[in-house]
Amino acid sequence: MSVNVLVGIQWGDEGKGKIIDVLTSAAEMVVRFQGGNNAGHTVENGDEKHVLHLVPSGILRPGVPCVIGNGVVVDPIELKKEMELLRDRGVDISSIQVSSRCQLIMPWHKLLDAFNESSAAKKGKKIGTTLRGIGPAYTYKVARTGIRGGEILNKEAFKQRFMEQGEAYNKLYVPAGATELDLEAAWKDLEPALDFVKPYIRDTVVTINEAAQAGKKVLLEGAQGMFLDIDHGTYPFVTSSNTTTGGACTGTGLSPRAVTRVWGVIKAYTTRVGEGPFPTELFDDMGEHLRTKGGEFGATTGRPRRCGWFDAVACRYSCMVNGVDYLAVTKLDVLDGLDTVKMCVGYKINGEIVRDFPAEACSFSDLEPVYEDLPGWKESTENARSFEELPVNAQKYLERMAKEVNAKIGIISVGPKRDQTFALIPDCLG
Ligand code: IMP
Repeated sequence: MSVNVLVGIQWGDEGKGKIIDVLTSAAEMVVRFQGGNNAGHTVENGDEKHVLHLVPSGILRPGVPCVIGNGVVVDPIELKKEMELLRDRGVDISSIQVSSRCQLIMPWHKLLDAFNESSAAKKGKKIGTTLRGIGPAYTYKVARTGIRGGEILNKEAFKQRFMEQGEAYNKLYVPAGATELDLEAAWKDLEPALDFVKPYIRDTVVTINEAAQAGKKVLLEGAQGMFLDIDHGTYPFVTSSNTTTGGACTGTGLSPRAVTRVWGVIKAYTTRVGEGPFPTELFDDMGEHLRTKGGEFGATTGRPRRCGWFDAVACRYSCMVNGVDYLAVTKLDVLDGLDTVKMCVGYKINGEIVRDFPAEACSFSDLEPVYEDLPGWKESTENARSFEELPVNAQKYLERMAKEVNAKIGIISVGPKRDQTFALIPDCLG
């Protein structure tokens, strides 16, 4: 079998879309397993730039089946828009499959997301969500009241559930201050999207397992990143799904035994959007330099990303939880031209040096990163196409990174274009 999981090792935005796009040249199926249209995976194909939110990043490789797995929360209206946009740009969308077990994001989930955030903001406690209804959709799933993809197949029953749930929302949340939903208008908006998505609904647990058992190279595409994981992230400043390798199994219906390789996508420095702990965040000119040079603005919301040095403590912990075999290091070129590059190798908490990532968000208020200064490199890395072509200090930086996090480097990316990527191993999909 060849089942490869690809996950983000930091706070999302590591450049997963690009790495998946590169890996899909060999993949025979690409599957999203969690999250929803809170993700924004940017793929540059020649002069064209695509930002994918729900559709797996394999879609730009003709003929590769692209599956939205059962662990994903799907907004049918947004999925229709994204698929139509791709189709209008000449991309073949016929290979898309949507799990009958996925949860659907309904209009009240989006209103609830906004309501929860504005209520929390009044107490200074907002998460900074993407306002796409992700958290409330997963909340309904766990509460066993969610509507699933397969229900689209029976529109009459669907409409009844929609009206019942919408009324329940209006009764429960509007008196508390949430926006009232005009159910007839909302149904009118939703119905064409349901009709559009219907032909793509499949029992994807079966199609994914069949592909894996037939020896097809299957790639499971994670969204967000380790520290946004609902269990392992900087709770409560997290998303509502399991973004880690474990989530790849529950979100597809593949057994953990099927996974043959784990790729961890890791940016050469660190970024985060939204609120929450970020030990190596920079508030000075260097932070601004990384944001400007790295184009660090959210692909989904356009928000400026918070920027900081590479955090080896966090990434070592992340590689352990995810069982990372190989790292795909992105945006190395953004560090070009610096005299010194700092790497965080420990945390000082209440005067004590710590080498593990703290579980409690409150531990971060007294945390001071312990840095090591590494010599930078003046040469550009943008045209390097092998490890040996990189400046010596860039090589040393990468070697140090790999040693600190206990994983091997498999891919290096030195720019946004497809060809600005090179592999250090012969067969990436093991
Ligand atoms: P939600 O997923 O919209 O509920 O947002 C929860 C947190 O996860 C917020 O801090 C978001 O900024 C963050 N987040 C969600 N999706 C992404 C992503 O794709 N990249 C980076 N951060 C994300």
